[in-house]
Amino acid sequence: MQEYLVELQGVSKSFPGVQALDHVQLNLQAGEVLALLGENGAGKSTLMKILSGIYPKDEGVTRVYGNAVENMTPQKARELGIAIIHQELNMCQHLTVAENIFLGREIVRGGRLARREMNAAAGEVLRHLNIDIDPETIVGDLQLSKQQMVEIAKALSTNAKVLIMDEPTSALTAKEINDLFTIIRKLRAEGHGIIYISHRLEELQYIADRVTILRDGQYITTMNYRDTSLREIISYMVGREIKEKFPRVDCEPGDVIFEVKNLNAGRLVRDINLSVRQGEIVGIAGLMGAGRTETTRAIFGVDPKVSGEIWLRGQHVNIRRPEDSIRAGIVLVPEDRKRDGLCVKLSIKDNIALPNLDILCNRLTVVNRRKKGTMTDQTVHDLRIKLPNADVDAASLSGGNQQKVVVGKWLARHSKMVLFDEPTRGIDVAAKVEIYNLMNELKRQGIGVLFVSSEMPEILGISDRIVVMCDGRITGELPIGEATQEKIMDLATRFESKINHATA
Ligand SMILES: Nc1ncnc2c1ncn2[C@@H]1O[C@H](COP(=O)(O)OP(=O)(O)OP(=O)(O)O)[C@@H](O)[C@H]1O
Ligand SMILES: [Mg+2]
Repeated sequence: MQEYLVELQGVSKSFPGVQALDHVQLNLQAGEVLALLGENGAGKSTLMKILSGIYPKDEGVTRVYGNAVENMTPQKARELGIAIIHQELNMCQHLTVAENIFLGREIVRGGRLARREMNAAAGEVLRHLNIDIDPETIVGDLQLSKQQMVEIAKALSTNAKVLIMDEPTSALTAKEINDLFTIIRKLRAEGHGIIYISHRLEELQYIADRVTILRDGQYITTMNYRDTSLREIISYMVGREIKEKFPRVDCEPGDVIFEVKNLNAGRLVRDINLSVRQGEIVGIAGLMGAGRTETTRAIFGVDPKVSGEIWLRGQHVNIRRPEDSIRAGIVLVPEDRKRDGLCVKLSIKDNIALPNLDILCNRLTVVNRRKKGTMTDQTVHDLRIKLPNADVDAASLSGGNQQKVVVGKWLARHSKMVLFDEPTRGIDVAAKVEIYNLMNELKRQGIGVLFVSSEMPEILGISDRIVVMCDGRITGELPIGEATQEKIMDLATRFESKINHATA
């Protein structure tokens, strides 16, 4: 008989109003990478939280190394060698990297924290993983991608036999993804079992041995990766075939409606000049750390501008704070939804209403509930957000559906210019197409669209024009007809000579 590291059978779980899992099964062997796939809200994270003892299950059996485990708890899971890297980062922002890695199992000597020892041990783990981060850095000061690497280091530092990775690569650069895959292959060769959740299906070819697919809380199938195709996987995930991955709408480009002139804001926003014409989607490409997010933040007024001007439809707009920007009709859908985009403790309805109070309130600043309800219904419908009802906390939605709420709340108001920062991160194949359709719809309505993306196919598939950044500057611009992956990469790596020196 095949001995499994982990076996889940007939697992069910419901939350108020949702059957998140309905008699689902899964098994994991030693020395394999099992990809767990499904659309947003399919139940992947819930199943993994059950396996790692975070949620109790309503029904079903969990077996670890062949033995049934009743009432799994996080501690029991840890003792059994099951580690999980969560989809949403769970770092303590004000603690150091080492403190985060040793959280809950601090090394104490003579009644005191052995800081030096923990820093050394953390440094060891990071080095082993090829991650160049000082263990004494405060986590809150690190970029999202670096925080994600710390989270991975933390999970690996416990010597887990079973490693669950819930979308570990969504915030990583190509190089970091490569490093992670090297680590994953090494762990597999050492006999670990890895459950890998990702919406980036093209990654699977590098690591996946088998795939298990869920849809709407139901178990669909398990296949050897070698015996299937992406097309088949997608059709199992979605329950239908997706024809166009990058729907295109052609509009005759009109006048320039949005302009950024000589914008400077810190080290990563240096002399930025760009424009968007009516009927045009402009993509900003570049490597992680090129200053793309910082540029959108400076435009929107989150970070102070040192100099520069923003023009909207021929008018100079003075943006000192986000409110100024929103009032002018320029909105930003940010990169880090948990930190900047959502109030996870508020309901979906409130989250959508929050930036739209000016529209929803009457002169006495009383919210018009009917309007609020209609606005929510419309948004939920347009973006096909999966939820039991709009009064539940944003925290209870699946990761991808949270992202849709962030996008949706800005679309609910009639903005003139929408900036998106990585709009499809963590979003499933079908919902991505919905977001592209929305961007296309904005373009058709004459609303300017500027979007930052690290996904090359998406940049090439959706933009009409591509602006490439490197090291805080714009290094080139390509009309879509002339753009290729190679040209973009070339522009994205045009560091100034002094930087070349430092990295050489
Ligand atoms: N704590 C919770 N309270 C209420 N409902 C929840 C909770 N956690 C998950 N759900 C619901 O359970 C269903 C499955 O969610 P889950 O997070 O497992 O999906 P997922 O497959 O991980 O999706 P994604 O790809 O978007 O991360 C969703 O409908 C979600 O809204
Ligand atoms: Mg999830």
